[in-house]
Amino acid sequence: MVGIQQLKVKAMSSSTKNHVKIFDTTLRDAEQSPGASLNVPEKIEIAHQLARLNVDIIEAGFPVSSPVQFEAVQKISEQVEGPVICGLARTIEKDIESAAEALSPAKHWRIHTFTSTSPTHIEYMLKMTPQQVLEKAVKAVKFAKSCTDDVEFSGQDAPRSDINYLYEIIQAVIEAGATTINIPDTVGYSNPEEYGQLIANLVANVPGIDNVTISTHCHNDLGMATANALSGVMNGARQIECTVNGLGERAGNTSLEEVVMAMKTRKDLYHVDTQVDPKEIYRTSTMVERLMGLSVQVNKAIVGANAFAHESGIHVDGMLKHRETYEIMTPESVGVPGSKMVLGRHSGKHGFKSRCNELGFELTNEQLDQAFELFMELADKKKEIFDEDIMALLKDEMPNVEESIKLDYLQVSSGTGTLPSATVRIIYNGKTMQEAAWGDGPVDAAYNAIRRASGLSPVLENYSIKAVTSSSEALGEAVVRIKDDEKIFAGHGVSTDIIEASAKAFVNALNHMLAKSNGKK
Ligand code: KIV
Ligand code: ZN
Repeated sequence: MVGIQQLKVKAMSSSTKNHVKIFDTTLRDAEQSPGASLNVPEKIEIAHQLARLNVDIIEAGFPVSSPVQFEAVQKISEQVEGPVICGLARTIEKDIESAAEALSPAKHWRIHTFTSTSPTHIEYMLKMTPQQVLEKAVKAVKFAKSCTDDVEFSGQDAPRSDINYLYEIIQAVIEAGATTINIPDTVGYSNPEEYGQLIANLVANVPGIDNVTISTHCHNDLGMATANALSGVMNGARQIECTVNGLGERAGNTSLEEVVMAMKTRKDLYHVDTQVDPKEIYRTSTMVERLMGLSVQVNKAIVGANAFAHESGIHVDGMLKHRETYEIMTPESVGVPGSKMVLGRHSGKHGFKSRCNELGFELTNEQLDQAFELFMELADKKKEIFDEDIMALLKDEMPNVEESIKLDYLQVSSGTGTLPSATVRIIYNGKTMQEAAWGDGPVDAAYNAIRRASGLSPVLENYSIKAVTSSSEALGEAVVRIKDDEKIFAGHGVSTDIIEASAKAFVNALNHMLAKSNGKK
């Protein structure tokens, strides 16, 4: 076995550049995790934002797996410019054909074909011999290569595979035309030394590997996905597969924001760079959080609410004297909006519009009119309006799903010693329905009343509410997840009244559920 340090030199010299490609798989790996499912317009919205973030590759989905997946990959290929658009395919001809058809409208596109290489996967999942797996992989790569020049190959569960078998199959798929070789730690089993050594061994032992890009794909089951991916880079990998907010199967995938900021902040250590615009990180993170309905933990590196908060006396004192005492990167560098007052009642529509544009929202005239009306209502309730308020309002204003149900009226009564009750009026497919109900608290009462009025009774799986800014008159943003027939749907809502925000979030989730049953999701 060759030592890591020796190999680092070889890897660096064999890599023509120190550019690390960022391959975002939020729309594929993260989207297939429980409860994260998105509709087609939401996927397109995220893909546009990933293009603004300037990732190199967007893995837009798994086209053969469902008509909705196919449509999303096709529409993203038609509409999103900049990054290479990639589609996933098993080592099966019909998968590759479907991916090629969905991807072909894109200017630059890639087919990502995968199998499994570990004995456990080969024996129990594929029920094949290693030789059969290899032959099928070679055939698939050759077929993919007849569709496009850009072909990626992955062998799932690579770290638990026999190393000599890995050398053999990787050499064979390179000879068949693969241009990127991805090394998935599918079950998050590796540690940084081991994963780095695996990449180093491939660099040293696979003929032809110098001519392709080696990629990392690390799951986070033991909390080491980011460290493993970076260790891969230190040993010659030049692509990282990752997701926004680290979402993904089970404990998630390598977090995009963490690897990008690690490589930027510790350039002295990694000597590599990415083309990602870090100022777009925060906006991408909040968009994914809202559309997938999966909250970011408060202490999450880079994008958590507390990532740049300093509380202890000693830290605050140090920060005031010199920022670098306790801050290795600034919130501005990742696009966290400063809490400055930007607008008030008298700012006017023009001022509001230009601030919206600066925050990256392109509004139609109709959306602008509606958003401005809400802004004026908010300005009546809240003296100071911050960037965060405007972003929350706009996110709420741009509906991400057809609104079969609209909340028309809500009245809630609760307090110490009283039984919480709620009355709601909704407009459901043009018909007005009104109902009242009790509950364990005001939110529960409102949800029960909405259930009765709509006749829909999904289970509430998850509910969270947070203040958008820090004053008592702040906007509240509610995110819910509901379950119906084993499927999970997310919803969000914003209001200065937290019960109203909660009701709007529930109605938004119901609209996602209805869109799915109407075949629009
Ligand atoms: O985790 C994994 O192995 C995957 C492959 C499809 C690359 O997501
Ligand atoms: Zn994965």
